[in-house]
Amino acid sequence: MTVTALIVAAGSGSRMGGEVPKQYRALGGKSVLAHAVDALAGHPRIDSVRVVIGEGQQDEAARALTGRDVGSLLIGGAERADSVRAGLDAVTSDVILIHDAARPFCPPDVIDRLLDALADHEGAVPVLAIADTVASGVGTLDQMVDRTRLLRVQTPQAFHREDLMYAIEETRGRKYTDESSALVAAGLKVAAVEGSSMLDKLTTAEDWRRAETTLAASLI
Ligand code: CTP
Ligand code: MG
Repeated sequence: MTVTALIVAAGSGSRMGGEVPKQYRALGGKSVLAHAVDALAGHPRIDSVRVVIGEGQQDEAARALTGRDVGSLLIGGAERADSVRAGLDAVTSDVILIHDAARPFCPPDVIDRLLDALADHEGAVPVLAIADTVASGVGTLDQMVDRTRLLRVQTPQAFHREDLMYAIEETRGRKYTDESSALVAAGLKVAAVEGSSMLDKLTTAEDWRRAETTLAASLI
């Protein structure tokens, strides 16, 4: 069984702000993208890592990836799902891990849990429970939501290649924020394995400050 990790890094990082998209900026002396690549490339069960970047991001990406073997850089599209699709054309492994470049820290045991779960599922994702009270409403509370059955879904997400391609084809034209949504919509089985707060996505400037603090604390 061959395993390839596909890291999507073609976004513009608009919510984070700054001159350079967040995935190409240095966090603790190393780019966010390089952190993500190193975490996956260093895992013994992952055979190769490929990276999808945005049109016009070649120079920033090459600088951010100095010294890393990720083959030729793949060019993504306008939405995350377009970037994933563009990247999948270049991947022929039996199993594919799709990962956000904006999640720089990936504990190796999460990858083991994902790959183990593929023995009896078409896909597997890392999840975390929700600690806060959950409600719907704008400005005022409309309805309280039972959080006990809700899960926060992270990446990397693992799939058997054939099942992923089937789900994408079946759900063509529908909008999803990740590929596990496409599998579930296509009626396939996606395992929920224990995720990690280390995998939380860097979305805003506050997330960036928290990541810097985490990194500094881990170096002490
Ligand atoms: N991504 C991508 N192609 C896109 C949009 C997003 O490859 N067209 C990637 C991002 O680079 C990121 C991941 O998908 O690694 C998760 O997306 P998000 O956190 O939303 O990043 P951005 O889209 O860059 O940020 P924003 O939505 O704030 O502009
Ligand atoms: Mg985005």
